[in-house]
Amino acid sequence: MAEALDTNRLSAGLFIGRFERAFAAEHGCRHAVMCNSGTSALQIALAALKEQHGWQDGDEILVPAVTFVATSNIVLQNRLTPVFVDADPVTYNLDPGQIERHLTPRTRAIIPAHLFGLPCDMTEILAIAARHHLEVLEDSCETMFVTYRGQKVGAFGALSCFSTYVAHLLVTGVGGVVTTNDDELAVMCRSMMAHGRDAIYLSIDDDDALGSDAARLQMIQRRFSFIRMGYSYRATELEGALGVAALEEKDAMMRARRANSEYLIQRLASLKAFLQLPTVPPDREHAFMMFPLVVKPDLDRDALLNELEGRGIETRYMMPLLNQPYYRRLFGDLEDRYPVAKHLNHHGFYIGCHQGLTREDLDYVVEAFTTCLHSAQPAAKA
Ligand SMILES: Cc1ncc(COP(=O)(O)O)c(C=O)c1O
Repeated sequence: MAEALDTNRLSAGLFIGRFERAFAAEHGCRHAVMCNSGTSALQIALAALKEQHGWQDGDEILVPAVTFVATSNIVLQNRLTPVFVDADPVTYNLDPGQIERHLTPRTRAIIPAHLFGLPCDMTEILAIAARHHLEVLEDSCETMFVTYRGQKVGAFGALSCFSTYVAHLLVTGVGGVVTTNDDELAVMCRSMMAHGRDAIYLSIDDDDALGSDAARLQMIQRRFSFIRMGYSYRATELEGALGVAALEEKDAMMRARRANSEYLIQRLASLKAFLQLPTVPPDREHAFMMFPLVVKPDLDRDALLNELEGRGIETRYMMPLLNQPYYRRLFGDLEDRYPVAKHLNHHGFYIGCHQGLTREDLDYVVEAFTTCLHSAQPAAKA
């Protein structure tokens, strides 16, 4: 950070460039484009696909019925229609077996979200996408640095988006990254996050050292040219510098999260009558951004969460989407058509799995769960 400030430059430069190149290489992609949030990354990535393929307003995009609200909001913000696909009851990710029943002649793309740190069933999703000529945009805002069948997340879809917001994996305060192997999409994303500018001038360095009068004149004429609708979604060198520094520690972070999650899974195994613990299918790694849990149907989840929070253990619901007030206003009461999402909305939650947790912290968590669950109340009958 001090080095970045010493350069006396805040707009995208050396540090964002270094971060983007290293992040792209980590995920096996040609391009990484850093912007100011995971949501912005998703919004411009979908806008780029919409422009590249000439999709019409109202065309349909398949999104998980269980995910953070941004996955679906960015579809609406692009004047497209989100169509929900139910979740898998074990991985909690979009269930590929549920995709084809939602296809219509207007379906254009699938946005699988790798939730909690676990990659989706990408082989099945890509096969369905290929069969029906659909684009795939990975929402990898909760997952980084891990593989599915030997390949890193972030390199499966036409584009993939990551978040570096606080409490995610690699953190830069606010921030997001789009990765892609498509040169045209990468340039479109850079343009869209900078007000829709002509690609001739996407960085303040682009008008340095122009070799001829003709080149200078062309720059003067096109530098202030806006060729598409864009946004102001740029990050600064300060986020870039935090990203460069955080990348140096990512292996230790991932090791600590994996060790924490393995310890919790092992120590909570005696509570399996009360809790569904995370499952990691053998063909993929889990980044454990969080530690997802589902209480058995006859237990009162909220009473348990209340007890845990009273003991200082923070919890969050498991990304319920369909029952959010805004979504109910837009789409009505969808929950009954999505039985797995409905079950997770009412019985799922997660706790932290941060690399800074000590063994003592984890033992405290296990003891709290043990005490609370042994005195747990059955769920009130609906
Ligand atoms: C699945 C998912 N998508 C998108 C986002 C949005 O990321 P950001 O908060 O950086 O906008 C998040 C963040 O919390 C997320 O969990």
